[in-house]
Amino acid sequence: MKQHDQRMDFLNPPAVIPVDQEYGLHSFDTEDEDDTSAFSVTSSVYNFRVENGRRYHDYKDGHPFPHDEVSEENEVCMHEMCLSLLDDKFYVSPIDESQLRNVADVGTGMGLWAEGMAEKYPDTEIVGIDLTPHERPTHPNCSYIISDATDEWVLDDPSTKFDLVHIRSLFVGVKDWPALYKQCFENMRSGGWIEQLEVVIDPRTDDGTDISDSYVRQVANISVPMGEASGRDFHVSMSMKSMIEQAGFVDVHEQTLKLPLGPWASDQKYKNVGRFYERFYKTGLQGWLLHICTRNLGWSVDQVNDACVKAFQEINSRKYLIYFPFTIVVGRKP
Ligand SMILES: C[S@@+](CC[C@H](N)C(=O)[O-])C[C@H]1O[C@@H](n2cnc3c(N)ncnc32)[C@H](O)[C@@H]1O
Repeated sequence: MKQHDQRMDFLNPPAVIPVDQEYGLHSFDTEDEDDTSAFSVTSSVYNFRVENGRRYHDYKDGHPFPHDEVSEENEVCMHEMCLSLLDDKFYVSPIDESQLRNVADVGTGMGLWAEGMAEKYPDTEIVGIDLTPHERPTHPNCSYIISDATDEWVLDDPSTKFDLVHIRSLFVGVKDWPALYKQCFENMRSGGWIEQLEVVIDPRTDDGTDISDSYVRQVANISVPMGEASGRDFHVSMSMKSMIEQAGFVDVHEQTLKLPLGPWASDQKYKNVGRFYERFYKTGLQGWLLHICTRNLGWSVDQVNDACVKAFQEINSRKYLIYFPFTIVVGRKP
């Protein structure tokens, strides 16, 4: 079965990302207001609670990451970054566009991917599933279900079987991954594809620099006690392939790409990816830490903000050429 290999091959990532020699000659102003924009959001939308200046939704037992204007910007960065990384492709599964009748986007968030798909493929019906309600710009062929995707999917047309199920950046949100993959499997047609994309929270360098003292590395290390204390999986990127196989999917294929943290690549594509990823990191970090560190690890809000500012200042100093791995898994329902 070479079909899926070919599809993933187009990504053709370089083994080592070439470095822009100008990078690091200028560092950013560490007082850059963009870096602190994450610390000042309030809202009072019904069914949401505000905690330490960030807004969270309260559906079922809630979600430990905020759902507010800053997290929206964070989603925009993820979406744009993926389009840059995947050469403007919305999916990498080896399914022909002409076969796309029904597509699901699990954990759709603002629906950026779902709406983009709906626009690109006007004859395809897209269903976005998310815990949270959202004002989304609905194309006529795009609809949403507000529900926990690990529960049984209640579709408008119960006979719908999906040709493609897309899951992106859902880490931590799901407590019971096997239950989620079971729902995906049951709601897909035979021959349909599942596709999941997740950042690996394990910053690395290509040049062998020791980053054990780096603040970005130290913050990443906190994901381990955070996961243990909260019962949430920060590292689903490492186990999703085997869980997707265990759910019954076949031809499961994994590829890991690199996300430069900052525009340090000489190559224009990876420079863009790095720009979006830096912005994604900066708009995401406080929200990823705040609830679990203050509720489960006994940190103060100041400690969380201090960890964020140190990491941001380090990025702004252009000291390291760090990247985060980004893993994509695709699998076919037999
Ligand atoms: C970080 S956002 C990612 C949004 C989108 N997939 C993207 O890549 O731009 C994660 C979304 O997953 C949703 N989510 C988390 N757990 C979920 C679950 N169990 N069922 C449905 N949606 C979930 C959250 O509400 C949030 O909107």
